[in-house]
Amino acid sequence: MRVGLLGAGRIGAWHARFLGGHPLVGDLLIGDADRRRAEALAGPLGARADTPDAVLAANLDAVVIATPTSTHAELLTRACDAGVPAFCEKPVAPDLRTTLEVRDRAAKTGVPVHIGFQRRFDAGYAAARRAVLDGRLGELHRVHLVTADPAPPPAEYVRTSGGIFRDCHIHDFDILRWVTGREVESVTAVGANRGDAYFAAAGDVDTSAAVMVLDDGTIATLQGSRYNGAGYDVRMELSGTAGTWVVGLDERAALRSAEPGVDWPPGDAWTDFWERFEPAYASEIGTFLEMAKGTVASPCTVDEALEAFLVAEAATLSLHEGRRVALAELR
Ligand SMILES: NC(=O)c1ccc[n+]([C@@H]2O[C@H](COP(=O)([O-])OP(=O)(O)OC[C@H]3O[C@@H](n4cnc5c(N)ncnc54)[C@H](O)[C@@H]3O)[C@@H](O)[C@H]2O)c1
Repeated sequence: MRVGLLGAGRIGAWHARFLGGHPLVGDLLIGDADRRRAEALAGPLGARADTPDAVLAANLDAVVIATPTSTHAELLTRACDAGVPAFCEKPVAPDLRTTLEVRDRAAKTGVPVHIGFQRRFDAGYAAARRAVLDGRLGELHRVHLVTADPAPPPAEYVRTSGGIFRDCHIHDFDILRWVTGREVESVTAVGANRGDAYFAAAGDVDTSAAVMVLDDGTIATLQGSRYNGAGYDVRMELSGTAGTWVVGLDERAALRSAEPGVDWPPGDAWTDFWERFEPAYASEIGTFLEMAKGTVASPCTVDEALEAFLVAEAATLSLHEGRRVALAELR
């Protein structure tokens, strides 16, 4: 397959590793607004670097869009119009109106699109989903989610990211829907600025929490941080009438027991999403290539991503207006 990669930054470089070594990829073309960045990434992989326009015009079988969020809609629309199956990093766009426009355009062209929520490819989340859906947890009553980064992204990234709920917690909102099979009905969110001033300057927060009520009455809570001293902490706790399961409670979980004599978990804490989700990212790109070949359906359509984005919108609105927001207000 001839595959294009747009964006040679943090996540683009990561996807390039898996694309470069994948048996389905015969020809990899990399385009970045910064040509030197594309060349530096392409060289060691034996890929070709070009301008983003030239990559998009190269008669591609598939394209991976890993550029800043503010550019996704335009590039995804161009890929759909050209009939090229596309993988696009989350979120689809920084705002709801543009997300809806992309959703409609993708539907009109019928081109398969896969939005990147890599947690769906993680073994722990998949096992939890099966346990919820086949009834092993009994009736689900409570969910708790944590996404806490050890260090914040750069100021430039934060400025165009759309804020912590749209940029970071959208992963939690997507996986909450995917694991429970339920929809979020309302969100009450709060946030605080405890770190660098550039978060407040961007209208963003670096510390976050939310309470969500799902459509079956399940209550979900969420916490987040851009400054988690213990390491990269991503967990999901699911409590039902027949048991509690925790995703991310492994030997490298970024927490310590306060109980004397308990020295578990034994390993060094996860430091970032790359290493924590490496197998999931690899599986995600492999599945995207299969989708582009036509052998599997999209594992996360724009419609699915839109649902997660609606929760992020509701959380952002709740944060700014200091009130509980029903998803129905936004629909
Ligand atoms: N799924 C995940 O776990 C995950 C992790 C990190 C980032 N992301 C998402 O990936 C996207 C990129 O994030 P990042 O951290 O890699 O950003 P980044 O700033 O490190 O990289 C973006 C790259 O895109 C290039 N670029 C900008 N505009 C372009 C254009 N129009 N055409 C081609 N190249 C262009 C920039 O020069 C830069 O090299 C964001 O939307 C972010 O939400 C997802």
